[in-house]
Amino acid sequence: KKTDNQMLVIFGASGDLTARKLIPALFNLYVAKQLPENFIVLGASRSDMSDEEFRNRVVYDSPYLKSKIEDLKENYLKGFTNMFFYEDLGSDYTAEYSGLAKRIEALNASKGTDSNYIFYFSTPPSLYEPIAKNLAEVGLNNQELGWKRLIVEKPFGYSLETAKNLNKGLQQYFKESQIYRIDHYLGKETVQNLLVTRFSNSIFEPLWNRNYIHHVEITNAESVGVEKRGGYYDKSGALRDMFQNHLMQIVSLVVMEPPIGNEPEEIRNEKVKALKSLRIMRDEQTLFGNTIRAQYVASEINGESVKGYREEDGVNSDSTTETYAAIKFYVDNWRWHGVPFYVRTAKRMPTKVTEVIIHFKTPHHQIFSDSGLNSKDNKLIIRIQPDEGILMKFGVKVPGQGFKVERANLDFYYSSLAETYVMEAYERLLLDAMQGDATLYARADEVEAAWEFVDPILDYWKNGKDVRMYGYAAGVWGPENADELIEDFGYWRNPGE
Ligand code: BG6
Repeated sequence: KKTDNQMLVIFGASGDLTARKLIPALFNLYVAKQLPENFIVLGASRSDMSDEEFRNRVVYDSPYLKSKIEDLKENYLKGFTNMFFYEDLGSDYTAEYSGLAKRIEALNASKGTDSNYIFYFSTPPSLYEPIAKNLAEVGLNNQELGWKRLIVEKPFGYSLETAKNLNKGLQQYFKESQIYRIDHYLGKETVQNLLVTRFSNSIFEPLWNRNYIHHVEITNAESVGVEKRGGYYDKSGALRDMFQNHLMQIVSLVVMEPPIGNEPEEIRNEKVKALKSLRIMRDEQTLFGNTIRAQYVASEINGESVKGYREEDGVNSDSTTETYAAIKFYVDNWRWHGVPFYVRTAKRMPTKVTEVIIHFKTPHHQIFSDSGLNSKDNKLIIRIQPDEGILMKFGVKVPGQGFKVERANLDFYYSSLAETYVMEAYERLLLDAMQGDATLYARADEVEAAWEFVDPILDYWKNGKDVRMYGYAAGVWGPENADELIEDFGYWRNPGE
């Protein structure tokens, strides 16, 4: 695909995300020769910095680039560093942008970026709308000469209402087709591969429905706690931080109907339809029986003592923010009628892993009575991360007399495609936006449909009667009570156990 000459303007350029994700992604694109001939980055934030200081900060002194740039020739590295410029926005992002506009115009003229601009919002979300408004006021949303795009970081809203307001707010100044809402899970190869697994094989899709699938399980576990983000996390929680966005994206790809083609809108239309078919839980009894939340408590992991969530910096000592969420739900459509979905996400688990498990039904008529196989034995496990790959579990005959059946694995690892370079999520997504491909970005109605589902749960957890908050020792697979949720079908699959 063609990548036009362009300028990337990053708001929040002195922040952590810029240094940790965006610059390394750009660096990889530079090395892979994926950047257009004329390309520059204009960093903007409140900090007072010269171009030179910005270059030092994000390139030479960056801990995130250190290992990548160590052995590079100075000239080659300069080629990268010289792409960076900086504009101080003063004390306030919401002040007038005529100065910024002049700088952009001057750089555009001298660097040949053809008036094509991406504005990347990596600031606190409360600034998204004011920045969009300011850009529009100085004409930087105008696409007469070149295209203009916004990339918006998460969190996208705090609730259904705030997400709707944010969508409306941004759409006052930019068209929906100009807005790219980033969800870095969509940049993961294995997440995209859900589409390919389903729609380019004739061995899976015919079984991908209520006739053959018993239940679907999705686990997203992290071993880290809230790290240095206690202040942010305590206002967010597992449901907002991971479930509403990343996990709902995975759910939509597992649930969706085949799109008629691979154009962005064809795929996104199907994802929205999928999200809209999730059965929204409204009454307290349903919410009580189908949602579990918990917090990690102080514990020892490998002989080291680990703080409990409420003791973390920036977290309220009587916080009711969940670090673990497990939700059981149904999808009300023809394909999925009656098939339960179990989705959980948490911090401070024994390991970092994300996987989707399709549990197939037991064969209707079982002739091998001593098989010991049951509904849990035919599984398709899609390992999103780490050990990216696909594992299929099925029964085989044990050699010898009789028909004893044992489980066998067919296991594919992405790493076996050794010669293929796998782009980092941010790298892939940035390049897509630079090329105007929004397939892997969330559309307004998608985000809202995900919030429709999540909002009542959040509301129940906040205001409901008899809402329980469990504790789990840091480093275990969540509270024991979470097993009650999945009891009908056995137990959660805990990788490595
Ligand atoms: C982010 C969340 O969106 O995703 C973090 O805010 C979380 O809390 C991170 O740690 C997980 O991403 P990944 O790619 O490491 O699974």
